[in-house]
Amino acid sequence: MTNPIHEVVKEHYSAIANSQASCCGSASDCCGSANTLLYDSALLEGLPVDVTGLSLGCGDPVSIASLKPGETVLDLGSGGGIDSFLAARQVGPSGLVIGVDMTPAMLEKANANKARMGVTNVEFRQGQIEALPVDSNTVDVVMSNCVINLSPDKRAVFSEAFRVLKPGGRVSISDIVTEGDFTPAMRADAAKWAECVTGAIDAAAYTGLMRDAGFVDVQIVDKVNADEVVERQTGMPRIFSARITAYKPVG
Ligand SMILES: C[S@@+](CC[C@H](N)C(=O)[O-])C[C@H]1O[C@@H](n2cnc3c(N)ncnc32)[C@H](O)[C@@H]1O
Repeated sequence: MTNPIHEVVKEHYSAIANSQASCCGSASDCCGSANTLLYDSALLEGLPVDVTGLSLGCGDPVSIASLKPGETVLDLGSGGGIDSFLAARQVGPSGLVIGVDMTPAMLEKANANKARMGVTNVEFRQGQIEALPVDSNTVDVVMSNCVINLSPDKRAVFSEAFRVLKPGGRVSISDIVTEGDFTPAMRADAAKWAECVTGAIDAAAYTGLMRDAGFVDVQIVDKVNADEVVERQTGMPRIFSARITAYKPVG
């Protein structure tokens, strides 16, 4: 699937990954980033700054996923890998975490971090979240942090998440949503889309797409003002960071 938005988003995240030459380099998101404040500090203990410094999420989807040893977890848009590494600790050596990202520079960072940490139960794959390189009915938990808002085809993302989950599998998402919609002119601002702003959709539409894909018990666990995470301009709808959970029915 090719869409001009993918190219703009890929360029944006390549630039961020490449500017993090080492932690506390020139990347604006590196070190002291508000993003790591989204997690309980105990959860981040022991993670190298090269991982925490490339945290680009908008919430903590790991803590609400109730991960168990031995589970298989899929991290949509895994970036530098922070949530994949956190999940890997919880599923343990008998579990597996698959991180999927379309940006080669991000995958390079994630794989370098994996090697440095000596982690063996995480595998990063290149691919689009709208066409996942993952077999059907093989995953216990689909996780994602601040990525689905970037997709130009959110319906395809939820349909793919549903396909790869085992029956009874669950979803744990942190993402940017709105109350109300951006105008078509605002949506056309691809740079703002890549910054996790104008690709976001109304929370009710978002959960509606999840139900359309087949998910049940779709719940917005919490929804907080996202002004500290994304820059909101005059005329824009209210922007939130929401955590959402859902299930694939058992039968
Ligand atoms: C805002 S960052 C979040 C990264 C990571 N989840 C975190 O919390 O640090 C978005 C990531 O999603 C990836 N991404 C965006 N759209 C994607 C798509 N359609 N398919 C695969 N990856 C995508 C980007 O390359 C980038 O690494």
